Amino acid sequence: MRTTRTKTTSSDLWIAPSILSADFARLGEEVDAVTAAGADLIHFDVMDNHYVPNLTIGPPVCRALRRYGTRLPLDVHLMVKPVDRIIPDFAEAGATYISFHPEATEHIDRTIGLIREHGCKAGLVFNPATPLDYLDYTLARLDLVLIMSVNPGFGGQSFIDSALGKITEVRKRIDAAGRPVRLEVDGGIKVDNIAAAAAAGADTFVAGSAIFESKSYAATLRAMRQQLATAHPLTRAQRGSP
Ligand code: DX5
Ligand code: ZN
Repeated sequence: MRTTRTKTTSSDLWIAPSILSADFARLGEEVDAVTAAGADLIHFDVMDNHYVPNLTIGPPVCRALRRYGTRLPLDVHLMVKPVDRIIPDFAEAGATYISFHPEATEHIDRTIGLIREHGCKAGLVFNPATPLDYLDYTLARLDLVLIMSVNPGFGGQSFIDSALGKITEVRKRIDAAGRPVRLEVDGGIKVDNIAAAAAAGADTFVAGSAIFESKSYAATLRAMRQQLATAHPLTRAQRGSP
């Protein structure tokens, strides 16, 4: 197996506020506020009260954010079943990344193809009990792997520690693949555990309640970046990078 050492700097680490915890009545302003506070992309949680026991937002809200003027990449996390029908709608509405759960589609490769054909970047999402075997024949066509560190459906849950080992395992697979694939973690990320996720190998960090329930979005993002700055050299050392 080919091994490529990934050289990642702290500027490659992205923070993605999850608007699930934003004030939906003021969504455009909330997205502006986290953008001004230094967010790298906006995490957009789509729930259908079927695949997960909660109901949120769809393509019209995505389109509305684009029309409002949101310029950051939109990181659409589909927690819906089935997934294929809605993918063209999200692409047309301005999604940048579209990620889905392998359990939610009959044909994983076809769904990845559909996302790419519509000009979006494709992500595959792993629940806490979903095995990484699903990466065996998919990683070559993925732009993002998302490791859930909570069971999907709600904001404000506690981080499940077993996600760290899983992130480490995916980091090895991505480095071995030798092509750029984001490694994102979602669920229970706070100022006090973001460094551990980075040390395990994550480079993209979803945070909902930690940011939107804080008094100052900018102060929280700054604190997260400070944590990431201290964590990252450890990551490189652990990976054996120069
Ligand atoms: C959970 C969602 C998450 C959620 C994270 O199903 O996928 O993106 O918003 O929220 P926090 O950061 O509060 O755990
Ligand atoms: Zn999410």
